[in-house]
Amino acid sequence: MLRRLHPEQPESFAFTPDNRAWAEAQITKYPEGRQASAIIPLLWRAQEQEGWLSRPAIEHVAEMLGMPYMRALEVATFYFMFQLQPTGSIAHVQVCGTTSCMICGAEDLIAVCRDKIAPKPHVVSDDGKFSWEEVECLGACANAPMAQIGKDYYEDLTVESFSRLLDDLSAGKVPTPGPQNGRFASEPAGGLTSLAIEEGAREDGNASVALATRIGDTVRRIDGTEVPLRTPWQDRSHERGDAEPSRGPELSGDHPADETGVDKREAPARGKAHPDTGAVVEDAHRPEGLSAPRAGGADDLTRIKGIGPKLRDLCHSMGYYHFDQIARWTDAEVAWVDDNLEGFKGRVTRDDWVSQARVLSEGGETEESKRKDG
Ligand code: FES
Repeated sequence: MLRRLHPEQPESFAFTPDNRAWAEAQITKYPEGRQASAIIPLLWRAQEQEGWLSRPAIEHVAEMLGMPYMRALEVATFYFMFQLQPTGSIAHVQVCGTTSCMICGAEDLIAVCRDKIAPKPHVVSDDGKFSWEEVECLGACANAPMAQIGKDYYEDLTVESFSRLLDDLSAGKVPTPGPQNGRFASEPAGGLTSLAIEEGAREDGNASVALATRIGDTVRRIDGTEVPLRTPWQDRSHERGDAEPSRGPELSGDHPADETGVDKREAPARGKAHPDTGAVVEDAHRPEGLSAPRAGGADDLTRIKGIGPKLRDLCHSMGYYHFDQIARWTDAEVAWVDDNLEGFKGRVTRDDWVSQARVLSEGGETEESKRKDG
């Protein structure tokens, strides 16, 4: 199958502010110069946000990672999980057509897709709500035939139950994922004959169904407000002794956002527009910088592990030239710098610049400085 960009493309793409924060946090997982390693999670996030990958989305991700557009395009066109054409506004339906499912009736399910959605795969239905495709084995063969709708599996399907699912989704409902014939999991159709499950254990369905129901994002577009935003090295709540680690907004919550899309409870803490007035909250925690290095020149900041030439230049542009400047940063100041290192967010904490700078400012050596001196 040829995988090409769709002939009709949107003008532009931008991550929501929360998805952008998430994407920038992913990039911090990789060492400087290796940001391209984050290509798949970032492309996937773009698809979760929009439903498919447009050319502007692929190029936007390539720019964030400092990659040539062609390299990002190669990844997007190689993996079938990336949708290169618009998908239904409610869901993209993926029907398994491999052996077990085919034997158990997948072709009948595909006929339902042709009838209710569109005669051909990867074509959006007339009402714009659905699209479909046949996919290879999704690993739920013991519950064949099955389909993935949005993020969840619907199993033990029949023409009737599958048609009903599509009707319910079209009406704005989200049917409970999992087996659709009353089975708990993949036990024999006639019921368990051994290792019987205790009475009451089946109330919420099997573990996958219970989790899917609790998260409730089966066919929801992901805008970044539904998951914890912070990677572990960016969340310092444990150091502050908070009872609960700070997380993003509650799962599936319907929280009003300001005009930038930032959740109102987060906006002040993140230095974004004030939730009520819209005024930009002042960055009170920006560490003081210098307009130029002191006489004698700047310290070699690349002696701090984790700082390469790009980060050194970024520090200079922010007015940070000397080890003793960094050594004095408070936790709040570290958090501010972490949040403002475009393309390298979270690096100060991840590599503990402050401790290293303290040693270096007092004339000591760190592993990195020794390594550099050979
Ligand atoms: S054959 Fe359909 S899930 Fe494996």
